[in-house]
Amino acid sequence: MSESKGQFNSNFGFIMASVGSAVGLGNLWGFPYKMGTSGGGAFLLLYVIVVIFVGFAVTLGEFTIGRKAGKGVIEAYKMIGKNYAIVGVFAIIAAISLLSFYCTLGAYCMKYFASNFVAIFTHGGIFEADATQYFNDFISNGGVVVAFTAIFCILNLVIIMGGVSGGIEKFTTIAMPALFIMLIIVIIKSISLPGSSAGLEFMFKPDMSVFAGTGWISILATAGGQVFFSLSLGMAAMITYGSYLSKKESLVKNSIIVPVADSLVAIMAGLAVMPAVFAMGLEPAGGPGLLFITLQTVFNDMGAVGPIFGFVLYFLVFIAAITSSISVLEGVSSAWIDAKVAKGQDYSRKKITSIVTGAVFILNLPTSLDALGGGSLPQPLGFCWLDFYDLLAEGILMPLGSLIMVIIIGYKLHMDWMAEEIELEGNKMGAKGFWNFCYKVTAPIGMLFILVGQIDSFFKLGIFS
Ligand code: TRP
Repeated sequence: MSESKGQFNSNFGFIMASVGSAVGLGNLWGFPYKMGTSGGGAFLLLYVIVVIFVGFAVTLGEFTIGRKAGKGVIEAYKMIGKNYAIVGVFAIIAAISLLSFYCTLGAYCMKYFASNFVAIFTHGGIFEADATQYFNDFISNGGVVVAFTAIFCILNLVIIMGGVSGGIEKFTTIAMPALFIMLIIVIIKSISLPGSSAGLEFMFKPDMSVFAGTGWISILATAGGQVFFSLSLGMAAMITYGSYLSKKESLVKNSIIVPVADSLVAIMAGLAVMPAVFAMGLEPAGGPGLLFITLQTVFNDMGAVGPIFGFVLYFLVFIAAITSSISVLEGVSSAWIDAKVAKGQDYSRKKITSIVTGAVFILNLPTSLDALGGGSLPQPLGFCWLDFYDLLAEGILMPLGSLIMVIIIGYKLHMDWMAEEIELEGNKMGAKGFWNFCYKVTAPIGMLFILVGQIDSFFKLGIFS
């Protein structure tokens, strides 16, 4: 049986879903640490420049292609030209690779909010253990991790099975404001701890000396990679959400709001995390170490209220993770659905989303059982499974797909093609000169630079250092 195409009920719902996709683990454990270790204010400056000259344009490109096609990512690229379907295929492979580690990380978040919740009442368990030991024991316990990953996948499935407005929009319009409030609670607590100002200094102290030499180049590569991952670009997600947006709404406005909101949450995440880390006299870190070891140590040192704040923080991170993963799952599922529609075949949304989620769960098994490389599984290309999947997605396919997309827009489709969709129903595409400049010059150069920077950082080639 065929079902009609979903749509967001309101622009607010669209923004919450898109910001939900963008705000994820990248904001919480990537941004604050990278900013702190890569020049503070200098990093922020370069980050903002990349958002303006690359991020806005790539976001606008994805929303516009998606809405114009009204279809999932593969059919959307086919609309541009038969030979471009390959870009959609890249996006799908990238999306599946991302999900193949992201769901395991979502499972870690669930375990941590559950354990902190229990500790509120027992004042034991995670609260009394050594945080490093606790984390290592947990991730090495494959059965438990797989069980939490299964729960995380099922929750994703339940939300996207509800459809676009009844599932995704309903969930994100509640979850994202809740995330925002929880973030503010944690920021207030973090900043009010004695000694917290050292954390603010770590993050914000500008090191402008990097602009005197070539130091800014490697910072630009770091900032560019971070912008790119954080905005959820180069994947099925934003094109698919664009395809569900009403023709009445302004694509340009939304393409600015989403990256700005995402960047604000990244900075707020820094305010929530770093002051507390420094107040407790801990070393700052990035990645899973920051989230699951350093921060848990902070909560353990906080006394009786520790588990309460621990629960709030890990619940917030879980929300950030699941609103990102549903966007990718929806992107993959809708690509499949629309390919069936194009062939005139019948489909069942429930069946397709279930198969996709099941496949994603299976692909997560190596990540879940790998204990971040500490287990006994064979390591592909010498990477742990998380890094291997991440290399495929974030390292190669996402930036490559986006590079090709901006070149297609700048050199094949041109601004009139974009304006035709953007200016529907009385909307205006202002600053066409700016957008044209982005698609022809800054976005392709920026994306090429980001692609090289990503490969450089995965293989530690040292090109930019
Ligand atoms: N932006 C998300 C984060 O910051 C993760 C992410 C990267 C993502 N690429 C994506 C989410 C594509 C959805 C789609 O953690």
